[in-house]
Amino acid sequence: TKVLIVASEALPLAKTGGLADAVSGMALALREANVDVTVLLPAYRSALRGVTGAQTVEHFSDLPGGEATLVSATTTACDLPVLLLRNDSLYHRDGSLYLDEEGREYDDNAIRFAALAHAAARIAAGKTSVDVPHIVHAQDWHAGLVPLLMRAEGADQVKSVVTIHNLAFQGLFPMELADAIGLPQDCCSSDGVEFWGKINFLKAGIRYADRVTTVSHTYAREVLTPEFGCGLEGLLKSRGSDFSAVPNGVDIDIWDPALDNFLPDHFSHADMRGKTTCKRELQETYGLIADPWAPVLAMGSRLTTQKMADVAAAAIPLALDANPRLQVVVLGCGDRQIEASLTEMAQRYPGRCAVSIGYDERSGHLLHAGADMLLHGSRFEPFGLTPIYSMRYGTVPVASRVGGMADTILDPGTQAGADAMSEASGVLFDGDSVDAMFNAIQRAMDMFKRPELWRAIQRNGMTADYSWDLPAGQYIDIYRSLLPASAFETQ
Ligand code: ADP
Ligand code: GLC
Repeated sequence: TKVLIVASEALPLAKTGGLADAVSGMALALREANVDVTVLLPAYRSALRGVTGAQTVEHFSDLPGGEATLVSATTTACDLPVLLLRNDSLYHRDGSLYLDEEGREYDDNAIRFAALAHAAARIAAGKTSVDVPHIVHAQDWHAGLVPLLMRAEGADQVKSVVTIHNLAFQGLFPMELADAIGLPQDCCSSDGVEFWGKINFLKAGIRYADRVTTVSHTYAREVLTPEFGCGLEGLLKSRGSDFSAVPNGVDIDIWDPALDNFLPDHFSHADMRGKTTCKRELQETYGLIADPWAPVLAMGSRLTTQKMADVAAAAIPLALDANPRLQVVVLGCGDRQIEASLTEMAQRYPGRCAVSIGYDERSGHLLHAGADMLLHGSRFEPFGLTPIYSMRYGTVPVASRVGGMADTILDPGTQAGADAMSEASGVLFDGDSVDAMFNAIQRAMDMFKRPELWRAIQRNGMTADYSWDLPAGQYIDIYRSLLPASAFETQ
């Protein structure tokens, strides 16, 4: 079976968040299960740098945004086949993948991602030199137009799946752009891509894909409600059983404390000594007091209101005041105002609180390995990879009971007896108040003071199975349900 995954991010070529981890994790797991996978991405500079054997295999003269070429290559890191859509005026930018250096969205994002979708649709329609896939699997709004454009190109034999990683980002653009991005006239009504007068890329995906999935069971239920559905709850409901959940896995080879080359020392649930070295290095790196007994609370995420980083800026000082030995490290970037308030907070607690604005993989790994607890508040969380990474490293998550985190973190609750608590893998809290977050940190602090209980909670998180094996099988079941049996015969 041939599957073309279309996405804006994939590790290690381009990343702003968990989408990149999920796309490459899914692709590698599918390959492991004998699916012939290729990932189509924009040819960002970082993407071109991360591949080998690049060859131009197609030239498009008339995509939105102008001429483009298709480059076939494999990723240097894991030998995954990729197709990169090259148009340097669209994809070689000095800011991040979506924002300029001032943090404003590029004003041609509609064109940038429509071009990607057109390229995918032409591949599916057999109009390029690239092999026609059986399935095109589009990820998030960036690839939302793919199923619609596949129909427009006449790719009727090829089936489409859309996976929603975050319904809060839909790709909304002025309707006046319809022509420029090559949308067929007859799909521009509210029965098609139109949403409150605008073009909605993700809506197009949900409306026209053969199947729609999202990345956790709880999120799949939540998005059918007005609170989490971001205006698309009705359309999602109308898809009935064609909309379902396939929970993400994590890459257990990349996130393995016994093998992780980013760490100064290795450890496992059977021998935790190396974690002490990681903690010392974390404290040293961020200028914290070198105290092996101090509880260290980490926060590593996009610093946005989704991640309750605004609430954390108020709850962390309360926790630092209530626990004289507690240390806090925050690593991430996002909303400029939240970044500023967190930075200001750190200045008030020298030696006890550090905030580092930015992100790189090495620092992310050290953070998860060296800390005792991970603070991960979320107003909504489709899946939530970070708390799982932390659990793999014996770092106990203190997280919101929403989306994937409600499914992957077990907290028997404040009323639970000692036996039930020893089954826990973290602390969960409800709502987005400063008090709720602070109280959850306090609960974790109380548990931390009981070494046997703490070891049990660490072990539960470290030994649970979060691999991609199961989800890969579930995607294959979906592909199978869409295709004639002959598509699987060649395996
Ligand atoms: P989300 O995708 O919503 O950001 P996840 O927890 O699922 O949340 O995934 C976050 C991923 O992004 C993790 O791999 C984490 O290490 C990484 N990450 C966290 N902060 C940043 C950042 N500022 N820039 C890039 N990647 C980040
Ligand atoms: C999104 C979500 C996050 C999820 C990730 C990968 O970025 O916000 O919860 O883990 O996608 O699916």
